[in-house]
Amino acid sequence: MFGNTALAALLCLLLCGLNRRLDASVLNCIPRKSVLHQNGSIKTFKEEGFFNYSTMLVREDINTLFVGAREAVYALNMEDISEKISTVYWTVPDSKQRECTNKGKNKDTECRNYIRTLHKIDDAKMYVCGTNAFSPTCAYMTFNKGQLLLENNFEEGKGKCPFDPFQRYASVLVEDHLYAATSINFLGSEPAFIRNSGNSLRTEFKASWLNEPNFIYMDMVEERQNNADGDDDKVYLFFSETAVEYDFYNKLLVSRIARVCKGDLGGQRTLQKKWTTFLKASLVCSVPELNVQLIVQDVFVLKSEDWRETIFYAVFIPQSGALDISAVCAYSMTAIQNVFSEGKYKAPVTVESSHVKWVMYSGEVPVPRPGACINNQARAMGINRSLDLPDKTLQFVRDHPLMDDSVTPIGSQPRLVKRGSRFSRIVVDRIAALDGKPYDVMFIGTENGFLQKAVNFDGEMFIIEEVQLFQPPEPVQSLTLSSKKGQVYAGSPSRVVQMPFSVCRRYETCLDCVLARDPYCAWDLAVNRCAATADRTADPQNLIQSVGKGDASSCPELRNIKTKTRTFIPGNNIQLKCSPISNLAQIHWTLNGSSIQLRNPKYYTYNGGILLFNVSVADAGQYTCQSVEQANGKQYPLTMAAYNLQPEQSQGQNTANAVTTQSPGTTQSPGNTRLTPTPPIVPDEWNPKIMLQTDDKRVLVFQILVGILACLLVCLLTWNLYKRHLPLPCVKPKVKEPSRKVPIDGVDTTAYQVSFNARGHFEASPLVNNCQTGTTVNSRITNNNNAARQRKDLDSFIIPSMLLGVDDFKYIDEESEI
Ligand SMILES: *[C@@H]1O[C@H](CO)[C@@H](O)[C@H](O)[C@H]1NC(C)=O
Ligand SMILES: *[C@@H]1O[C@H](CO)[C@@H](O)[C@H](O)[C@H]1NC(C)=O
Ligand SMILES: *[C@@H]1O[C@H](CO)[C@@H](O)[C@H](O)[C@H]1NC(C)=O
Ligand SMILES: *[C@@H]1O[C@H](CO)[C@@H](O)[C@H](O)[C@H]1NC(C)=O
Ligand SMILES: *[C@@H]1O[C@H](CO)[C@@H](O)[C@H](O)[C@H]1NC(C)=O
Repeated sequence: MFGNTALAALLCLLLCGLNRRLDASVLNCIPRKSVLHQNGSIKTFKEEGFFNYSTMLVREDINTLFVGAREAVYALNMEDISEKISTVYWTVPDSKQRECTNKGKNKDTECRNYIRTLHKIDDAKMYVCGTNAFSPTCAYMTFNKGQLLLENNFEEGKGKCPFDPFQRYASVLVEDHLYAATSINFLGSEPAFIRNSGNSLRTEFKASWLNEPNFIYMDMVEERQNNADGDDDKVYLFFSETAVEYDFYNKLLVSRIARVCKGDLGGQRTLQKKWTTFLKASLVCSVPELNVQLIVQDVFVLKSEDWRETIFYAVFIPQSGALDISAVCAYSMTAIQNVFSEGKYKAPVTVESSHVKWVMYSGEVPVPRPGACINNQARAMGINRSLDLPDKTLQFVRDHPLMDDSVTPIGSQPRLVKRGSRFSRIVVDRIAALDGKPYDVMFIGTENGFLQKAVNFDGEMFIIEEVQLFQPPEPVQSLTLSSKKGQVYAGSPSRVVQMPFSVCRRYETCLDCVLARDPYCAWDLAVNRCAATADRTADPQNLIQSVGKGDASSCPELRNIKTKTRTFIPGNNIQLKCSPISNLAQIHWTLNGSSIQLRNPKYYTYNGGILLFNVSVADAGQYTCQSVEQANGKQYPLTMAAYNLQPEQSQGQNTANAVTTQSPGTTQSPGNTRLTPTPPIVPDEWNPKIMLQTDDKRVLVFQILVGILACLLVCLLTWNLYKRHLPLPCVKPKVKEPSRKVPIDGVDTTAYQVSFNARGHFEASPLVNNCQTGTTVNSRITNNNNAARQRKDLDSFIIPSMLLGVDDFKYIDEESEI
């Protein structure tokens, strides 16, 4: 009665899940397709013994990708990164390493040289910095005639590169000046945002400027050209820090955007050698119905010809790790400008003689505006450089670097929300689709090694596909792209991979190609295949694409599925294979033209097909499987498989008696060939109703009773634990027992071990927004043809995915029963 344990666990999860409704009602986008690593058209580079491929520099002009790893820099062919052009090794001298270990750092991890900075200086020269055993060092590197060379006039790297290889930092090279935001001491306790140049500038070492920051990203936006105000170019810095403005008992992290002006030279007396233009504001990205602070993880600046059209894309995850939700928000230049150029400032107020509160400053603001770049208005006042700024302005900006207004995202809501994976990096490509409109395609790397390719169509979130970049899973730690080559490059601790923006031929039918809404692909009627739109050989008249709408009604009806004949021996079980074309499609089976009653315990459907139990002569007939995908209110059916199921004709040894002693897969049916074992099918959808129906009634009642008892017990235990304020681990029953054994007859029966993975299956959330609800288990390819039905079944029971730790448990055993 091992099934009891499973049932008990399930019931308990169902009941305990009731109070987690909020979590489940949050919108969630599921990828239309999940592509496993081996199908992902992925190219890999790694060198044995080398790790932490954390820094990348794309040079489209010379077709080369430079990669900084631990103690090595590589030049790789951008078309195929598995082709190495040149390498430079940069190890730590023994003396340095000893110094580092003497200070208590780990010899094999911390006291090494992690390349963290790679910037182009000119066509043949680069600037490179490494942590160099907690003693950051920089150098010039040349790339000539395919040969990388490290020049040995090393420079001090303090203020340019972090000491600690595990610390995030950001830098950008502007006109030979390295702007860097990093810790500038061994302990990592003194953060600074520095311009390294003849006129070095840095931030004040004050909590109101930077308060235990985690630096994320930095880039420059040129806005001097065509600027009516005569304004300056600006460097934008993204980071998270401990908020000073909220007086909570606990530390509260907030996301920030800060900016400085390129022409800043510091102040004359006040703010000498310090930024006079450092202003920061909160960066807001909030998910409706979810009251948690999201923290910025990475940023991509999508630049436009007109700087005013610049869009900042940022990925966010919650501050605490308990909630597995991620979001992308996009910010317009206008919103950012409004906050910094016109917004109010925050000011500290001392309350009750010791406590400081930050509130909106409503007093008089000095002129020129504190923190503004030198613009026409300032010049009109005879102020040509920041050194000319009056003390009043400088003192004000020194004491009020934080803006009162927050920067809010375009449309006041995220571009994408997804559960079940943690976003780590983002890059964005803008492409004009055949409808002439530009689309911003987001490529988002995750902590578990996937790349989510997503588009937001006027508020509608859509993940075209998720591709598994790293198997075994590894976090995406660096991400870059080449729009010209149509390639994404991702680095992880152990390797670098390259993936094309799109693999159109993966879409095999017109329906699949058009419903994918992939701006890079269109169905070519002339050759009947899904082709890349960049490939201009096709006649545009022949191309079908509907990126904005996902309307596939112009696809020709041409699918001709060959009916396969399958024979069976009465009394056995049969498996008929069929998969939906996408995670958003559902499977629909018909027998002799009428729908199969799925409530019938005779059938069990899952994402790989259907199981027929105890087949009898009466079950013979024509079985057809359709994949039905809904897009923009229309249903698109597509026949995926057709079977003619017939009873075994031949007599002799195949008597009922003989059948029961056969192992699955050993039955040789006429006209059918034995298949070699395929990997176990992993239906990720678990439908308790079907499970229950197929079980014996008496057993069922008993199991439910035991289940409720067990649940009460667990809930009691939970309550106890809670009352004692113990850290409460999630209920994670591990059930590893075969619940029952079913012999399977027929050809494809080699897939006899069906493991259920219940993680995430009960995220039965109602449809929110325009996005699909549901979830995926990222470590496996997932389909959810049963999802909608289950959602209905479980409407009143909602379980957060984090509670679902029910790992695989065997459903159909390998051996058939005698
Ligand atoms: C993925 O690759 C495997 C093995 O190479 C193959 O059997 C499978 O059909 C492929 N899946 C898809 C969706 O192309
Ligand atoms: C470097 O890679 C190793 C091996 O995967 C990993 O354990 C380590 O955490 C990485 N170090 C950093 C600084 O990312
Ligand atoms: C600023 O520049 C203008 C014109 O270039 C010049 O006339 C003026 O004297 C300068 N002001 C100062 C304070 O240097
Ligand atoms: C299988 O079906 C036959 C009738 O179709 C029935 O007599 C038999 O009991 C069934 N066997 C099982 C194990 O349910
Ligand atoms: C389906 O049709 C075939 C041929 O018309 C018939 O022999 C079979 O009994 C039918 N099966 C069912 C279940 O109605």
